[in-house]
Amino acid sequence: MIKASDFGSDFSWGVAVAAAQIEGASDLYGKGPSIWDTFSKRSGKIKNGHQPVMACDFYHSYKTDIALVKALGFGIFRFSISWPRILPNGHAPINEEGIRFYHRVIDECLLNGLVPYITLYHWDLPDALEEEGGWTSYSVNNAFNTFVLICARTYGDKVKNWIVLNEPFGFTSLGYMLGIHAPGKTGLTNFFSAVHHTAIAQADGGRILRSEVKGANIGTSFSCSEVIPYTQSEADITAAKRVDCLMNRLFIEPCLGMGYPGAEWEVMDKFAVQHSTWRHTERLTFDFDFIGLQNYFPITIKYNAFIPVLQAWEVKAKNRKKPHTAMGWEVNGDAFYNVIKKFAAYPNIRSLMITENGASYHDKLEQGNIHDHDRINYFKEYLKALLKAKQEGLNITGYMAWTLMDNFEWAEGFNARFGLVYNDFKTQKRTIKDSGLWFKEFLNT
Ligand code: NOJ
Repeated sequence: MIKASDFGSDFSWGVAVAAAQIEGASDLYGKGPSIWDTFSKRSGKIKNGHQPVMACDFYHSYKTDIALVKALGFGIFRFSISWPRILPNGHAPINEEGIRFYHRVIDECLLNGLVPYITLYHWDLPDALEEEGGWTSYSVNNAFNTFVLICARTYGDKVKNWIVLNEPFGFTSLGYMLGIHAPGKTGLTNFFSAVHHTAIAQADGGRILRSEVKGANIGTSFSCSEVIPYTQSEADITAAKRVDCLMNRLFIEPCLGMGYPGAEWEVMDKFAVQHSTWRHTERLTFDFDFIGLQNYFPITIKYNAFIPVLQAWEVKAKNRKKPHTAMGWEVNGDAFYNVIKKFAAYPNIRSLMITENGASYHDKLEQGNIHDHDRINYFKEYLKALLKAKQEGLNITGYMAWTLMDNFEWAEGFNARFGLVYNDFKTQKRTIKDSGLWFKEFLNT
C-alpha cells in the first residue's frame, strides 16, 4: 500500500476545478457570455441539453467548497479565472464585481491555509472575442495579453502560482477542428490558425507573469496520453506517430524552442510553410518553472486509409476488452508512467507537476453514501505509477486530482461525474464520496 508520505514531505497535493464548470452565475454580477454559454444554447451540442447557467453554484458557495478542500486534506486549490467575468466584452471596461469575486476566493483559500493555483485560460473565451474570430484571429493575442496583465497586477501580490493555459490541444482540437466543443468550428484551417495563436498566448502569458509577479512560479498545462500502435506494423507505428505529434508534441515543443513537430508530419509542415511566422520560434518559447501534465488514458491507434489527413483510427478500450471508465477511457497506470517519462525526457524542463488526473463513473447515491470503489482503484493505480516515476529521480513536485466535485463536463453535460464529492444539481447538496474519504485518509499518512 502506498502512502502520501512516500512522495516526500515537500510534495504538494491539490484538487483542480475550472470556472465554467463550477461557478454558475453565468449571466450575473456583470459577467459577459463565454463561448460555452452560447454554445450550450445551440440545440444538440451538449448531452441532455444541459447548460452551465448554475453549474455547482460555486459563485455563492465558494466558502463551504473551499472548506471542503481543506477538510479532505489537500494543500492546493487550483481554480481558473473566468475571462468574461473580468472583461465581459473581451476588452475594457473591467467588471469590478468580477475582480472582487476572485479576491474573495483567493482570500478564502489563504484563510484556510490553502495555496491557490490560478489557471488563466480554462476554455471560457468571452463570446465577444469569438465574434472577432476567437483563437483563429491574431486579435485574440492582444486581448489575452491585456487579460493576463490585469490578473497579474490585481492578484500577483497574493498569488504566486500560475498556469497560463489549460490543455491547449484539447480546446483547439475539440473546439476548432472537430466542432464538438465551443465554439463549434471545424476544419484544418481553423485548427492550425487556432493552434498558432494559442502557442503565442502560451509564451506571451508566461512572459507577462514573469515581468509583473515577483517570485512567481509559472507553469502551463498539457494534456498527454501514451499513443500505442495497435500492432507493430509499420503502418500502425507511423499512424501512431502522427497522432503523437498532435496529442503530445504540438504545444510543448514550440514552447521549449524546438518549433512545431512538422518535420515528422507533412500536413503540419505544409501549414508551417504557408504561415511564414510559424518559422519564428522565438516568440513561441518560454522558460516555464513547471510543466503541468494532465493524464487520464492512453490511446491505441490503427492505420486507416479512410480517415482524412491523419489516416489513423482509435481502437477503443472496450473493443480491446480493457478496463475503462464510464466515458470509455482506458484505465492504465503503466501508460501514465510511460507518458510522464516521455515528457520528462525533454531537455530544459525545470520541473513537472501533475495538474489533473481522475475518472468518471456512474456514481449512485445510496442512503447518503457513494461507494465509488472503481474510482478509488483508479487513483491507487495511477498514484502507484506516479510514485514509481518519482522514485526514479524525476523532478515531479505535486499532484492534483480532477476534481473537487461533480460539475459541468463540457459536451457531456452534468452526467459525467468526476468529483471526489457528489453534487446533487437540483439541491446543490454536496456529499463526500468514498473516494474523497479515501483521499483524506491517504493524505493523512
Ligand atoms: C480536462 C479538462 O481540463 C477538464 O476541464 C475536464 O473536465 C477533464 N479533463 C475531464 O474531462
